[in-house]
Parts: sequence; structure tokens; C-alpha cells
Amino acid sequence: MRYLSPALNVMAAAARKAGRGLIRDFGELENLQVSLKGPADFVSTADKRTENQLVEELQRVRPGYTFLVEEAGIVEGPDKSHRFIIDPIDGTTNFLHGIPHFAISIALERDGALVSAVIFNPVTDEMYIAEKGQGAYLNDKRLRVAARKKLSESLLATGIPFLGHGDHDGFSAELAAAMSVTSGVRRFGAASLDLAYVAAGRFDGYWERNLSAWDVAAGILMVREAGGVITDLDGGADVLSGRILASNEHLHPQILKLLKDAVRAAKG
Ligand code: IPD
Ligand code: CA
Ligand code: CA
Repeated sequence: MRYLSPALNVMAAAARKAGRGLIRDFGELENLQVSLKGPADFVSTADKRTENQLVEELQRVRPGYTFLVEEAGIVEGPDKSHRFIIDPIDGTTNFLHGIPHFAISIALERDGALVSAVIFNPVTDEMYIAEKGQGAYLNDKRLRVAARKKLSESLLATGIPFLGHGDHDGFSAELAAAMSVTSGVRRFGAASLDLAYVAAGRFDGYWERNLSAWDVAAGILMVREAGGVITDLDGGADVLSGRILASNEHLHPQILKLLKDAVRAAKG
């Protein structure tokens, strides 16, 4: 049976509650897609409101904890040993375009170590949870990373740099390398769910650069607790740096080498 610590319980409850609001907003968006002003302002309001709601809810049950959240940044609390890391809507561009692939992502750190994680897609009602040392679950099902060993059979996910963001040439080299030796590469647009899908064995691997701590904190624990391997793109432990590679123990070293060689060749 899955183990829900008291902290994980309150995190999942807060995500479910905030998720109900997001579902309402997502429905409203249909009417706004065709309006002249467009839905962008509406989405940024929904984003901030969801963040405030999550922070207030968690402050109520865990007074004093520190927060790192996407919109407000650091919200200091007297308890420095506990920190919530929150992305209120991960996959904002999908949300904005009416694509039902986005999530609320909440991680809890204790003394600098990730101990509890929740990733919730309110549209599909998929609740991913993980607790350090207790495994990762999708709803009630225990998660395990895929067992595939061959790159040729693997399905990878990534994030594509976009207008004004990231190293376009470096990424193009990585993608060219990955697409020539794998079964396929996907860009679904929500880093937290990409990591949850690795934990669930749906994707065999995932890499991306230029991420923030709130995009990946919950997903990191999810992958670890599903038996996966997660490092930065140098193979090191700096996983909150925003350059991340997640996979299983067989494919991780192969993908790491593939990406490193591609970038090295591109930069001459
Ligand atoms: C984004 C998503 C996306 C990733 C971007 C992130 P946001 O988060 O996770 O998949 O490629 O780099 O910024 O802005 O939707 O919260
Ligand atoms: Ca995000
Ligand atoms: Ca976000």
C-alpha cells in the first residue's frame, strides 16, 4: 500500500483543491480564445491566484515553512529547514492554448533534501506522489521506470528552446543526435509531467536545459523513487541547476554521452 506522510497528505489536498479552480479556468478559456484581447492576461491571473491559494493553504497547515514559488520568488518563514518548492501551473503555454497537459507541482525539502512530492494534472485527474524512501505512485499504482536497455527502442522527451530562450544551435545538435538513434523524441511542454512520465515508464528518458527549480523539484524525487537515475547534464548531482537528464540506469550513461558528444561536435 502506498504511504502518505502527513506532509504529503496536505500537499496532495492543496493540489486537488487548487486543481478544481484550474479546471474552471481552463473551461473559461474556451470563450476567451476567440476574443480580441486573447486569453494571456486571464492565464497570468489564474497562475497568480493558484499560487496564492497554494501558499495560503500550505501556510495554514505548515506555518513557518519557507517557500520558493515561481511568481513571488522566495517567501521566507522562520523555519529554514523546511521549504516548499511550487509551480502553480507547469505547462502554461499548453494551458493558454487550450491543451489539457499541465500540472501543479509541489515539492517539500527538509534540510536541503527533497522528501515529498506531488504532481497533479487536474484534467486527467492523474495524481503523482512520492515520498523519500517510500516509492512513487500514480493514484494507487506503484511506479517504476522503464526497463529498456537499447537506445534504438527508447522514447525520449525534451524541451525545445523558444523565442529568446536557450541555446538553439546546441539543442539542434542534441536533437539531431537523439532522433537518429532512438524510436522518437517528444516535446509535451510540461517539465514536471515529463519527469512523472519517466517515473511511470512512459518515457525512457528526458533531458532539458534552462529550467528552474520549481519545474523539476517534485519530478526529481518522483524519478528517484521510481528507481530512475537523475543528474545534471554533466552527469553531476546539481539537479536543481536547470540542466537535467532523467532515465533508467541502463540508458542514462548512453544518453549522457550522446548529448555531450553532440554538443562538443557542434561547438567544434
Ligand atoms: C515550462 C514548462 C516547459 C519547459 C519550460 C518551462 P511553465 O514551465 O515546464 O515544458 O520547456 O522551460 O519554463 O512556464 O509552463 O511553468
Ligand atoms: Ca514550469
Ligand atoms: Ca509555471
